[in-house]
Amino acid sequence: MKVVHSIEDLRNQLRGQLRVAFVPTMGNLHAAHLSLMRLARQHGDPVVASIFVNRLQFGPHEDFDRYPRTLAQDIEKLEGERDVYVLFAPDERELYPEPQNFRIQPGDALGKILEGEFRPDFFMGVSTVVLKLFSCVQPQVAVFGKKDYQQLMVVRAMCRQFQLPVEILAHETVRDPDGLALSSRNRYLSADERAEAPQLYGLLQQVRDMIASGRSDCAAAESQALQTLRDRGWDPDYVSVRRQRDLLAPTAAEIHEGEPLVVLTAARLGATRLIDNLEFQAGR
Ligand code: PAF
Repeated sequence: MKVVHSIEDLRNQLRGQLRVAFVPTMGNLHAAHLSLMRLARQHGDPVVASIFVNRLQFGPHEDFDRYPRTLAQDIEKLEGERDVYVLFAPDERELYPEPQNFRIQPGDALGKILEGEFRPDFFMGVSTVVLKLFSCVQPQVAVFGKKDYQQLMVVRAMCRQFQLPVEILAHETVRDPDGLALSSRNRYLSADERAEAPQLYGLLQQVRDMIASGRSDCAAAESQALQTLRDRGWDPDYVSVRRQRDLLAPTAAEIHEGEPLVVLTAARLGATRLIDNLEFQAGR
């Protein structure tokens, strides 16, 4: 695997390649990232991965400074798997060379709801860096995890609206055996918090079961889930049932007719904010 830090070296490595598959990451790679690389390998050749902790997508009181930076170990993991041909690991000056940056702002209907309500500049930061990375790598295919469900939808909308010729592939959320979705932020959890953390996924399953079986409407299931989280010591931002296609709230008729749905949540356990989601369909 070639490790390059400049856009010029990246382009030299990729000259003439016709089906580049790309996996953008912020590093601190774990099994879920490696699985994204494997999916990329099935859909393109060569595979390019990037590692860049993007300041622009962190809020002022978020964990940018303490976000784990583990480049040497990440390189070892990628070399062990042998799926990646080039790792692009730019520094901030390479990706943001001028102090006054152009920024991409998703429309409010997708960018300011759910995560966007609680992290106001998050999707601006994600869209801006993903557009920059796409412009550097010029992939034909790019892989994103469904754990960041709304991010995946924002990236898809950006590609559509800017006519970017990149096919976006979604990888299923990878979980530990107890159900906790893999995330670089899980390493912030204490032993007690780690034992509690899978409850978040358990709760999503309960919401799904209540709605899919017709035992509850969305509002009642959501507020029951929020209360359960609070009772267990969590500080939830939201638990919300939405349509898969646009993340708007479904009507009762749509639920009844089998509209594909997703329940999404974000909640703080101690100092760690976890997100998760679960797709389902009423009547299935
Ligand atoms: O999901 C992530 O790791 C990041 O948001 C991404 C897509 C690499 C952009 O910085």
